Amino acid sequence: MCGIVAYKGHKNCYPILLDGLHKLEYRGYDSAGVACLAENGKITVTKRSGKVKQLEDGLKKNNLIENCNGSGIAHTRWATHGKPNQVNAHPHKDQSGNIVLVHNGIIENYDPIKKFLRSKKVKFKSETDTEVLVQLIGYFFNQGKLNFEQSVRAALQRVDGAYGIVVLNKKEPDVMIAARKGSPLVLGIKDKEFFIGSDISPIIKHTQQIIYLEDAQMTIIDGDEFKITSIDEDLSLPKKVEKIDFKIDDYDKGEFKYFMHKEIHEQVDTIRNTVTGRTKKGNIILHGLLDYWHEIKQADKIFITACGTSWHAGLIGKNLIERFAKVPVHVEYASEFRYNKTLVDNKSVVIAISQSGETADTLAAIKKANDCGAITVGICNVPGSSVSRETNCGIFTRCGHEVGVASTKAFTAQISILYLYALKLADSNDSMSKKTIKEHLDFGEGLKKIKHVLNKENEIKKIALKYKNANDFLYLGRGLNFPVALEGALKLKEISYIHAEGYPAAEMKHGPIALVDKDMPNVFIVPKDKTYEKIISNIEEIKSRKGKIIIITDSKDKILKDLANDLIYVPKTNHYMFCVFATIVLQLFAYYIAVGKKLNVDRPRNLAKSVTVE
Ligand code: AGP
Ligand code: GLU
Repeated sequence: MCGIVAYKGHKNCYPILLDGLHKLEYRGYDSAGVACLAENGKITVTKRSGKVKQLEDGLKKNNLIENCNGSGIAHTRWATHGKPNQVNAHPHKDQSGNIVLVHNGIIENYDPIKKFLRSKKVKFKSETDTEVLVQLIGYFFNQGKLNFEQSVRAALQRVDGAYGIVVLNKKEPDVMIAARKGSPLVLGIKDKEFFIGSDISPIIKHTQQIIYLEDAQMTIIDGDEFKITSIDEDLSLPKKVEKIDFKIDDYDKGEFKYFMHKEIHEQVDTIRNTVTGRTKKGNIILHGLLDYWHEIKQADKIFITACGTSWHAGLIGKNLIERFAKVPVHVEYASEFRYNKTLVDNKSVVIAISQSGETADTLAAIKKANDCGAITVGICNVPGSSVSRETNCGIFTRCGHEVGVASTKAFTAQISILYLYALKLADSNDSMSKKTIKEHLDFGEGLKKIKHVLNKENEIKKIALKYKNANDFLYLGRGLNFPVALEGALKLKEISYIHAEGYPAAEMKHGPIALVDKDMPNVFIVPKDKTYEKIISNIEEIKSRKGKIIIITDSKDKILKDLANDLIYVPKTNHYMFCVFATIVLQLFAYYIAVGKKLNVDRPRNLAKSVTVE
């Protein structure tokens, strides 16, 4: 975490690197920096705390932007070790000043290495774990026995933790070295130019020829040539070049002020894209699972693991799989799954859900599941990402690039996939009739009505603005809508910094009700289903304690009107699609509260889009 971009070629590297840093801004960061190694062998490092814009202004002021043909490395930092200030910002140099490095991730054993280097009279300038790594490379190189590549390898073999790094060395100016373990790194190739990024966003406009570095791999670019090798030994590995077809449009806000807003609206298409072509005459076709379906359908234990919003999708997945296919499902946060004694074995299926496909905890959970012999299934949005590579098989959510830090379109696509998965399993184990499955696959009406929900935007905005100064919110739903409540509360927290909690509506009386007073808004998600009457009682309980009631429902019953301070109708469909509708309402609700508070919706404080550290 958070972003790396590097360039090696004949062009001026500053514009390429700055543009790349802007493309990576969506990941969230607290400082940024760039280092260029010019043809005359001079290294110039510029760093700023704050935004890329601040860095850009600093470079302009020093007339640097027009001025460097050669190699450059750049970084947006999300501080893990040391304050987010200019000194701690990357790139970092070794003591000789010849070697310069950017790093995403954490060096876990930085402390003993730092002590060792200090004993060798190495002086440190920053508080970061990263500086320890560049100093260690410098220590090996400056002894004069190892060349640059060997020094990088020697240092990497001694560090624990996660990293994506790019390093330059004034003494070997034709060489650029990148390596990864845990954190992702992508190499883009175009004739005699090379681009490196933490993801493809800074690369895609320059080239579509991509190599996704695999874990524990390095690339050494030397002049116009490059090789892929392993961190463990100097062994040339095959160059697996892929042609990717992401659209540059995905990185444009178009008519919208914020990516999040654009992405909420894109759900008309993204849900359709996610299901299209995956059903035919009552059959569900999930090509990505084909080779493993025989084992998947026989598994007696299903686990779902994920983080954040993707974990909420997992809770909906549990409900759907148990409901349709009658197989028990255990859902666990990936950060817990990886360390708990969860009973996974070679008869289990472990479904890992991740928008980015790079979440460190989710990857560790997948590794654990693979080690236990389970079949691992990825539900992921980014082709080529680590989740898509590390799982045995999987299904892509077809949302295009999600830039807003608060996940929106990925969530509704994930639940669409889980819906198909649950129905396919029900079909395979005969727990549902063909006729019922076919009925469940009739998306036509539901998909059309997503537009109607989005058309309620102004109404939702008005209600949202009424509540923008509240300090706490409760979000309450039952069954399938309990995870929707959790997701609604998370959206609000993330982008408006208002405290919000999601609860099963009835559970609220076991504690949270103590919070309720006349100032506290309570958002109820109320489909007309079998718990309808029960949830009305829950609303009454809050109402009698003077809490404010906001209801999202598909029922026109007068009682709801009487109970609600504000009420948002969504069109009638089946109760699976209702979850999607309610989610979209809650996304817009959170969005307008944050906009009303004049906050940067796409880049909420302290958050990063892809959490590639533990
Ligand atoms: C969502 O709004 C969050 N920013 C966050 O919870 C996210 O869902 C989580 O970090 C998991 O990310 P992933 O789906 O890319 O693995
Ligand atoms: N651990 C490093 C630091 O705190 C890198 C953080 C990052 O990935 O941005 O500087």
